[in-house]
Amino acid sequence: MSEFLLDQKLVDRLVADMEYELDRKAPPENFPQFPDIPSARYTNEDFYELEQKYLWNNSWLVAGRVEDVPDSGDYFLFEEIGIPLIVVRGNDNKIRCFSNTCRHRGAPVVREKEGTIRHLQCQYHSWTYGIDNGELLAVPDERDFVDLCKEDRGLPEISCDTWGGWIWINVNPNASPLMDFLGKIPEEMEQYQCENLRLVGTDHREVNCNWKVAIEAFQEVYHFRFIHDRGGWTSLDSRGGTMGLLKHGNSRMVVPRSKQMVEKLEMESWKDFKIVKDPLGLENIPTVHPIVHCTSYSFTIFPNFITPLAATGFPVMLFFPAGIDKTKIRIYHYALDWGDGDPPEAWEQRIAEFAGVIDEDVWNLDAMQKAMESPTYDGTPLCYQERRIYNMQEVIDRVIGVEKIPADMTVAQLLDQYIEE
Ligand code: FES
Ligand SMILES: [Fe+2]
Repeated sequence: MSEFLLDQKLVDRLVADMEYELDRKAPPENFPQFPDIPSARYTNEDFYELEQKYLWNNSWLVAGRVEDVPDSGDYFLFEEIGIPLIVVRGNDNKIRCFSNTCRHRGAPVVREKEGTIRHLQCQYHSWTYGIDNGELLAVPDERDFVDLCKEDRGLPEISCDTWGGWIWINVNPNASPLMDFLGKIPEEMEQYQCENLRLVGTDHREVNCNWKVAIEAFQEVYHFRFIHDRGGWTSLDSRGGTMGLLKHGNSRMVVPRSKQMVEKLEMESWKDFKIVKDPLGLENIPTVHPIVHCTSYSFTIFPNFITPLAATGFPVMLFFPAGIDKTKIRIYHYALDWGDGDPPEAWEQRIAEFAGVIDEDVWNLDAMQKAMESPTYDGTPLCYQERRIYNMQEVIDRVIGVEKIPADMTVAQLLDQYIEE
């Protein structure tokens, strides 16, 4: 029994997959040619409206961390998708999410971004709701309402669950359970003990491009040696990347190290995985498998969660649209709990180094929207290496409902047989 919380069978398969990718001369036989992704999906207001109406209201999204609401009555507002929501820990210790729109005249029930409350009390006419179930408890001058049915006027509850220490919400009242949606990701991420990690830094950006343009830059490494050029030096061998297409638009990307990096790490070969001592001296999470030390390993959780993993702790990046051509990128760095006092100083440098890489991506992304809006550009021909992007685009259509999308803006559903069971 290994001390690493990752199935060795999966590791063996990933190695075999990377060997295959490095060796092949072309995509696998019969792998489909992707039809161009219509550029209208990034630039057309109608498509953007469809996403607003049917995608963001119908997806599991990280709203915060469990430790943001440690005690009963602790709450914070979540407003990233334009729907005012409140996340609150109840008297029964359960974390729930409610609409933050008062059932009376539509005022925000709670206005402070975070705090501690006993009831949810609207400041306009003081209607008061319970934190455990959103029940409408009190209405001033209730005698003046004819037949007001208080039972029918509670605050709508939003689907809410936790995994990995994150609080996830889904505005769709009929959403399938979070754990069904996540599939095998929780098991594969167990080795990081995410629920014990602690926020060590944030970096919030706004880029001038559609949210899909932004998140797609983190789902392939085809651009890596160009946008992140280090004078010919590169840490990855993008040709060996294995792209695991998972259910519901989720995916995994594992990329072997370059020859230069293999030498630097004093590995015998790219698959000579071992525990690497962090160059900045940060402590490793002890249950993380050596494959993570010696590859680039990341997950996408549909639609907007990217995590480039590392053995010492890692960032989670969340992408939210702030308009058709504007994206908020929220970066949260999680570290091993450092106990009392300040976090290890090396984290400052780690976060700065990551920010430097993001600067390069942002430099590229900021210029893309204008270029994509050109009448000379009508679609994106994706290659086999970029298949996670196609997978995400397919699932966007399924979540919106293919029948609701104008035919010339849809993508063909092609990858079903390539999804890992
Ligand atoms: S709008 Fe909330 S009590 Fe009137
Ligand atoms: Fe990049």
